[in-house]
Amino acid sequence: MADGPGQPAGIRDGGSRRVVIDRFGPPAVVTVVTDPAPADPGPGEILVRVEASTVNGTDVVIRKGLYPLLETGPPLTLGYDLVGRIESLGDGVPGPAPGTRVAVITTVGGNADHAVVPAAAALEVPIDLDAVDLAPLTLSYLTAYQMVHHDLGVLAGQRILVHGGSGGVGTAAVQLARHRGAEVVATASPTKLDHLVRQGAVAVSHRDPDLWGRLRQESRRDGRDGFDGIVDPVGAASVGRSLRLLAPGGTVAAYSTVAAATRIPQRTRWSFLRFGAGYGALQARLAVARMLPGSRRAAFYGVRDSTRDHPDRHREDLAHLVDLLRRGDIAPVTTVLPLDEARRAHELHDAGEVVGQLVLVTGG
Ligand SMILES: NC(=O)c1ccc[n+]([C@@H]2O[C@H](COP(=O)([O-])OP(=O)(O)OC[C@H]3O[C@@H](n4cnc5c(N)ncnc54)[C@H](OP(=O)(O)O)[C@@H]3O)[C@@H](O)[C@H]2O)c1
Repeated sequence: MADGPGQPAGIRDGGSRRVVIDRFGPPAVVTVVTDPAPADPGPGEILVRVEASTVNGTDVVIRKGLYPLLETGPPLTLGYDLVGRIESLGDGVPGPAPGTRVAVITTVGGNADHAVVPAAAALEVPIDLDAVDLAPLTLSYLTAYQMVHHDLGVLAGQRILVHGGSGGVGTAAVQLARHRGAEVVATASPTKLDHLVRQGAVAVSHRDPDLWGRLRQESRRDGRDGFDGIVDPVGAASVGRSLRLLAPGGTVAAYSTVAAATRIPQRTRWSFLRFGAGYGALQARLAVARMLPGSRRAAFYGVRDSTRDHPDRHREDLAHLVDLLRRGDIAPVTTVLPLDEARRAHELHDAGEVVGQLVLVTGG
């Protein structure tokens, strides 16, 4: 979608659409409803006319009813992020002016024509870049950037392992580590290995029965002593094994339990407990890693804590990502669907057919 400066995203006449679930479950629970008009922003809030938002791995976890940080259950509007133009300001909000383009981490509510969000959560982004490219920066690239730059401190010449390099966060991590001048080894399903190679990574299938043997080999190629940094969304067992592939001084940045999330189709009492146990096991594994002597580290990265605790860094990091996008140093790999096809976006995720980032556009 190519938007010119000053050209607002179009909203259909006759209402404002939202992607909702009224219960947790498979993609079939995803529907698009149309409200007669968007809600008004309250004090401290702004109304944003959404141009693009993503359907990412966390939206899928939310839809399945597995996300531990959800404040309210269904009915809810999906969408962990958005990029759009400010339409109006609530009481006590001095700016920025209507028409300004912003990127927002919403947790829920981003997959819509309009969203009311706290003004403090909205970061200004340029209007001359494509909203489809900016949407992946808001959550996925920010997550990857903060792990690659702050947690791993990736440097030129290092060798970095990215588990799940075909996903939204994983693709961003591969690109950002490559941009730092690192060699990257990345894992994905067999059908997505070409994607990793196109991103400049050495590709390894995570379905290879000898996955860990292959990764050990890659970690030691050319006489090296292990990976300098590892990005790992897979879960506790994977983080335990990743730790053993680190060079002295290396770090594992863990950020999810994606293996369990993909295996569990939807929330039941037991699946929810099983998923929670997997998350607990990951935290326990990281706590043990912190107590062990030696110079190898492992830490959990959480974008919500990071942006809440370090708002200035959030702003700076997003601005840096926008610069990298403008210079062509990063290039989001996107599949674009109209907002009305949100259910299809979830079906593609559940079928394992998404590479990079799925983006919904509102049209106009
Ligand atoms: N902590 C945070 O702040 C934070 C921020 C953003 C996202 N997340 C979480 O991180 C996870 C990834 O998010 P995303 O948006 O990037 O999701 P995504 O686009 O759906 O990507 C998921 C990735 O995981 C890989 N994968 C799935 N099962 C795997 C396995 N058993 N072994 C190795 N890799 C496996 C997939 O590889 P293939 O498709 O090639 O099989 C794919 O690369 C989600 O669980 C999300 O909730 C956490």
